[in-house]
Amino acid sequence: MPRLFVKRLAALASVLLCAHVAIAQSSLSPTPPMGWNSWNHFFQHVTDADVRASADAMVANGMGDAGYVYVNIDDGWQGTRRPDGTIQSNDRFPDMKALADYVHARGLKLGIYSSPGPKTCAKFEGSYGHEAQDAKTYAAWGIDYLKYDLCSFGDKLTVAGNGDQAAPAAFAAQQEAYRKMHDALVAAGRPIVFSLCQYGMSNVWEWGPEVGGHLWRTTGDISDKYDRMALIGFSQAGLSRYAGPGHWNDPDMLEVGNGGMTLDEYRTHMSLWAILAAPLLAGNDLSHMKPEHLAILENKDVIAIDQDSLGKQGDRVSALGPYELWTKPLSHGRTAIALFNRGELAHTMRVNLRELGVPPGAHIRNVWGNADLPFSDIINPIIPKHGVVLLLVTR
Ligand code: GAL
Repeated sequence: MPRLFVKRLAALASVLLCAHVAIAQSSLSPTPPMGWNSWNHFFQHVTDADVRASADAMVANGMGDAGYVYVNIDDGWQGTRRPDGTIQSNDRFPDMKALADYVHARGLKLGIYSSPGPKTCAKFEGSYGHEAQDAKTYAAWGIDYLKYDLCSFGDKLTVAGNGDQAAPAAFAAQQEAYRKMHDALVAAGRPIVFSLCQYGMSNVWEWGPEVGGHLWRTTGDISDKYDRMALIGFSQAGLSRYAGPGHWNDPDMLEVGNGGMTLDEYRTHMSLWAILAAPLLAGNDLSHMKPEHLAILENKDVIAIDQDSLGKQGDRVSALGPYELWTKPLSHGRTAIALFNRGELAHTMRVNLRELGVPPGAHIRNVWGNADLPFSDIINPIIPKHGVVLLLVTR
C-alpha cells in the first residue's frame, strides 16, 4: 500500500475515533453523577486500601445498586513525574491500573483529580504543561472521571489579568485551560466525565458546557456543619436554568455520615441536593457508617427525585424568613415539593398545594416519613428545627 494512502487512512481513523469519543463524551452524565469521593473524610491522606474498601462497601451495602457508581480519588494520589514527564502515583497508590481493574470488576467506575495549575490545592503535582500526557495516562489506567480543580492556576489568572483575576484576559485564560484538558481527554480516546472545580468564579454555569464540563462547582468548599451546608445549598436559588442532562451545577459533595450534623440536618442536605439535581457524591467513610446514615443515602424516593430523567433542577418558590418552599418538576407530570425549616425551633408550615398546581386526588408521598399523605388542599406539617418535609407528588 502506498505510504501516503496509509498515512491518510491513519489520520482518518484518528479523526473518526476522536469524533466517536466526542459524541460518547457529550452523552456522559444524562443524570447527575452519583458515587463517592475521598476528600471529605480522608483528605490528602487517602490510600489505595481506602479506595478499595470504599468500593467493596458500596457493593456490600447496596449503594452500588442504588446508583452510586463513581469511586473518586480526590487530591493526594500524585507522585513525581518521570524524566519524560509522565505522572506517577505516590507510595500510597502502588498501581493505579490495578486499582482501576479492581473497581471495574465490582461494576463501579474510578475517578481521579488534578489541576490546570502546576500544583494542586494540597500542593501535589498538577497538570500544567502536561495536559495531553496526563489525559493519556488517565485513559491508560482506565479512569472514568476527572475533577479538575483551579488551585494554583489562580496565579496564572492573576498574571494574565494583570493583577485582576476577573479581567477579560484572565477569564479567557481560565476557559482556555479547561478547554485544553477537555480536548486532551477526547484525544486520549476514553470517555471521561469532566468535572470543573473553580468554586463558581465568573458565572461558570454560563460557560461550563462550552469548555466541555459535565458539571461545575458553583461554590466554595462544603464542610460537615449545618451552617456551611445550608449557606451553600440555599444559595443555589436561581441557577436552575443552567442545569440539564449532561451539564449540572455542583454545590459540592455530600457530608452525610461524617458526624457533624443531626439526622434532620443530613435529611435537609440530601433533600436539597436532590431538589437541586446535584451530583450525589458521598463523602464519608463507607466502611464504618451508621445504618441511619446509610438509610439517608439510600432512600429510593430522594434518589429518584435527584436522578429524574427530565433533568430539571428545582428552585425556590418562596421564603418567609427561615421557612422555604422549593419545588422540582419531574418526568410524567410528577413534582417534588420540599418544605425547609432553617429556623432554630420546630415550626408548623402551612402550604396550599392547589396553588402549587397539585390537582385534587393527587398521590402524595412523604419521602422521609416513608408513608403516603391523605390528599388535602392545605397541608400543615410540623417541620423540626433545621429539618425538611419532602413530598413526591404523582398526578
Ligand atoms: C479544593 C476543592 C475540594 C478538594 C480540595 C483538594 O479546592 O474545592 O473539593 O478537592 O481542593 O485539595
